[in-house]
Amino acid sequence: MCKDSIAILDFGSQYTHLIARRVRECGVYSEIVPYNITARDLLARSPKAIIISGGPASVLSRKSPVCDKAIFNIGIPVLGICYGAQLMTKFLGGKVAKAKAREYGKAILKVTSTKGLFKDLTKKEKIWMSHGDKIALLPRGFKVIGATDNSPVAAMKDTKRKLYGVQFHPEVVHTPKGKKIIKNFVVDIAGCRITWSVKSFVKESIRELREKIGDEKVLCALSGGVDSSVMSILLHKAIGKNLIAVFIDNGLLRKDEVTLVEKRFKNMYHLNLKVVNAKKVFLKGLRGVKDPERKRKIIGKLFIDIFQKEAKKLGLPRRTPKGSIRGRIKFLAQGTLYPDVIESVSPTGGPSATIKTHHNVGGLPKNLKFELIEPLRDLFKDEVRLVGKEVGLSDELVWRHPFPGPGLAVRVIGEITKEKLDILREADWILIDEIKRFKLYRKLWQAFCVLLPVKTVGVMGDQRTYENVVAIRAVTSEDAMTAHWAKLPHNLLEMVSNRIINEVKGINRVVYDISSKPPSTIEWE
Ligand code: XMP
Repeated sequence: MCKDSIAILDFGSQYTHLIARRVRECGVYSEIVPYNITARDLLARSPKAIIISGGPASVLSRKSPVCDKAIFNIGIPVLGICYGAQLMTKFLGGKVAKAKAREYGKAILKVTSTKGLFKDLTKKEKIWMSHGDKIALLPRGFKVIGATDNSPVAAMKDTKRKLYGVQFHPEVVHTPKGKKIIKNFVVDIAGCRITWSVKSFVKESIRELREKIGDEKVLCALSGGVDSSVMSILLHKAIGKNLIAVFIDNGLLRKDEVTLVEKRFKNMYHLNLKVVNAKKVFLKGLRGVKDPERKRKIIGKLFIDIFQKEAKKLGLPRRTPKGSIRGRIKFLAQGTLYPDVIESVSPTGGPSATIKTHHNVGGLPKNLKFELIEPLRDLFKDEVRLVGKEVGLSDELVWRHPFPGPGLAVRVIGEITKEKLDILREADWILIDEIKRFKLYRKLWQAFCVLLPVKTVGVMGDQRTYENVVAIRAVTSEDAMTAHWAKLPHNLLEMVSNRIINEVKGINRVVYDISSKPPSTIEWE
């Protein structure tokens, strides 16, 4: 895709993704690259400008991570944010020192130049700070363009070399004019054209997919989740019936999920969809298994085996009446997103420490000799949703809560049986039904029920009961990396609890999970 782009050097800030998002919101494509990329490799990507992210380290420490110094001499604009600004200072002859007081949270920036980077700002702007070091001496050629009570150099510039540094975080919402600052940098200073939009992405992608695929066939795994749904519709728009989507019913799905997928994708969007009923195989494979990681491994392996078998069935070459060989499937499409492909060499090691091995539907049957197609690999989750809307996916599918690849297997705690899955499906259905009725579904990142392997005593009518406990989990989140337990209204919780206990046989107690992530995770297993 021919586009002006911004490269973001990732020094491990929790906000690096936000920088990338903000740049794209300005209509300019952005890419996150490892902090230690060489100037040469960076140039090969031909970015119009560079942004250096913040990070948890201190430039004062001898072991602190550094970028290739030559980056400041390439001749394209550079904006250093927090750690990035301090690194710029250190490399270019200025001085960084420990701040007397750590500056964290809201501050007022006294703007001394309302041109260039700070065009259209007023003399005093709210900003968000988060740093322990400060710029004590400007590097040669730089000028102060903003200060706070605690930081005499909260922002600096060297207009001649087009180098800029800010001690604060323009990428967070707590810096209300942050987006304007980023736009000033990428559009005015770097001269990027505004070419990135969801509409242009869809148009370009369809053109590229057609060009790449030609008359060949593409296989994909459809899970009914947002990513694979958007990917399938996009591909369907590009190549129509040459896309063959396989939906594996593993028996670990939510109530009516299979029907929904079939109805929507087969009947409404007219996809070439094959539904494989593999419920028994999965249940058998999971029999007696309690450990969450083993569950994930078994499910992942079974999924690949079954998908592979289907691929072989579908992909076998056929001889046409005229004698030519047709029908071999050349491509495999996957709903990989940008956060999965970012070269995670940030000094903090990235967020991907194996707390849970996330098996994603569509995950890599490696020995199949397909060529990979990943039409969403440049996008963030919320951009995928916008693409979904653009290609005409219904709101119901676009706004679905994420659902883990191993499905209800990680929500039935401990051993899985069909009965437990059925109980959970019913309880979960009620929870979602009420959340939708209270119009809270879209405000939540995820909401679901968890079936606990705990029996408690209850009383229904005059009868003593001894049945299972269901936990309700509802969280708000931006990206699932962190999450807060949702403060659901008490009357909603009351309604859900009443309905679950009355309508679902096998449950006599409902509890509400009030843990956030970290230290808990969103799923219980
Ligand atoms: P945790 O539980 O780690 O979940 O806080 C973060 C997000 O990932 C989803 N999740 C999974 N997704 N396969 C997936 O495709 C998995 O094994 C898996 N485990 C958790 C979870 O639903 C949440 O959105």
